[in-house]
Amino acid sequence: MRLPLIAGNWKMHTTVTEAVALVKSMQERLDEINGVEKVVCPPFISLTAVAELVKDSSIELGAQNMHSEDKGAYTGEVSPLMLSGLCQFVILGHSERREHFGESDVMINKKVQAALKAGLKPILCVGERLEENEAGMTIEVISRQIQADLQGITSAGGLVIAYEPVWAIGTGRAASGEQANDTIGIIRKLIAEIYSDEVAQELRILYGGSVSSANIAEFISQPEIDGALVGGASLRAEEFLSIVEQTARIKGSR
Ligand code: 13P
Repeated sequence: MRLPLIAGNWKMHTTVTEAVALVKSMQERLDEINGVEKVVCPPFISLTAVAELVKDSSIELGAQNMHSEDKGAYTGEVSPLMLSGLCQFVILGHSERREHFGESDVMINKKVQAALKAGLKPILCVGERLEENEAGMTIEVISRQIQADLQGITSAGGLVIAYEPVWAIGTGRAASGEQANDTIGIIRKLIAEIYSDEVAQELRILYGGSVSSANIAEFISQPEIDGALVGGASLRAEEFLSIVEQTARIKGSR
């Protein structure tokens, strides 16, 4: 059985004060929910303060990006070495990084390798753009991304994949549960081909893109979907709590 995972990607939102307040407002109730791994991914600048806050709780921490080198002359960057010990997860290859910061699959592959080496669990994001979806290229695009992003990685222990169709991010236009389940099933088959059936059965694959308390049940009740990477809704305590609660209820009752 794969442990469901709900991760909140806060993107470039919240000051340190706001990040601490948001976690404080959810912490007690999140701690009462069992059977779901709960991860928050605040901006880099808030990681230390939030880490201190959650150190004795069940809430885990993720970064939203990192460089692939441990140190060096890379002004403005944050390294795997700096993150290890501070957080457990790191989001890599998010479509906003690919789109606005020119991240290529080659760069993302280096980052995934570096994260695993540093003992961080990468949440590797893949997904097709609207025009690729409309051209029927979803599987082709995702397969290309996964093959390239996992190139040369022989052990995928700790890896999490998030399927985030770009057209569903921040648009309020989520994929349907069935659509997401089908694509995630194909991703799992691909992982079985690259690694083994055993690895594929253990690997958690999340859906991301306009997830809210109103539609989480549709995703989480699908057999292939192991959780969600939540953007906007993760910035609202009641929304995030409801998403985690529903996930525990639905996956727990199986
Ligand atoms: P939204 O939930 O705001 O659509 O964002 C999804 C996302 O990009 C999570 O990484």
